[in-house]
Amino acid sequence: MTDASNARFNTEALSWDTNPDVQRATALAHAAYLARLPSDPAVLSTYDVLDLGCGTGLLSLALAPAVRSVTAVDPAEGMIDALRAKLASPPPPPPEGGKGLPVANVSPVCALLQDPDDPRLAVDPVTRSPRPGRRFDLAVSHLVLHHVPDLRSFFRTVHGCLAPGGRLMVTDFENFGPEARKFHPESKMDGVERHGLRRDEMQALLEEAGFADVSVETAFALEKKVETEPGSGVMGPSMVFPFLICQGKKTG
Ligand SMILES: C[S@@+](CC[C@H](N)C(=O)[O-])C[C@H]1O[C@@H](n2cnc3c(N)ncnc32)[C@H](O)[C@@H]1O
Repeated sequence: MTDASNARFNTEALSWDTNPDVQRATALAHAAYLARLPSDPAVLSTYDVLDLGCGTGLLSLALAPAVRSVTAVDPAEGMIDALRAKLASPPPPPPEGGKGLPVANVSPVCALLQDPDDPRLAVDPVTRSPRPGRRFDLAVSHLVLHHVPDLRSFFRTVHGCLAPGGRLMVTDFENFGPEARKFHPESKMDGVERHGLRRDEMQALLEEAGFADVSVETAFALEKKVETEPGSGVMGPSMVFPFLICQGKKTG
């Protein structure tokens, strides 16, 4: 991650959740993950989850009620501060009445993760105690991979973070050709390393990192407005962007 992209996400953190495209993309990704995870709540509720590039924690907080814990990691301090603020503020009352329960199973970590044995990952979000060498049942990452300069090293680290049998599920927009560049307005290209994911490249990268049962498929499509002309700053007609879900499993 470059200083420029870190600065960009620190600046954007305060308004991140007000972007309707971001909210819709998270809801679609959350549904795509749930559709592929065990439907038995007794199983899913045992999962310790690692959310890489969690931003303000939109996906982490959506997953949290169904799983045992979420360790939410992001290198941008502004994003992690926004998540910390959400966790510290009283939750809204549930629609069925009564008081909202505070989220007690999500731990924000500000880090550019490079080592599965990073001590910041060792703290169990539920017990708040360190458990050195802690590993995860599920690693997720949404809308992040197009910012990661070295995907090879990223997936090697994620593989190392998983317990035997642990699963990886990552979602991001697909590089379906030159038009994929329009996903970002030209003013937001800082830190964009690639204009989406290529199917065959993702398949090869996950296999190379040691994952088994690798699959890469279309998960959903996101319709969003794009610039009328590159660099105009004027948002015009909508375009549909396909999103891929890339999955793998750690054996042994
Ligand atoms: C487009 S935002 C997505 C945030 C969140 N996942 C969401 O969907 O709301 C990309 C996030 O990835 C983080 N990021 C950038 N480079 C990263 C890297 N190399 N490893 C992990 N996260 C990274 C940024 O700080 C930023 O919060």
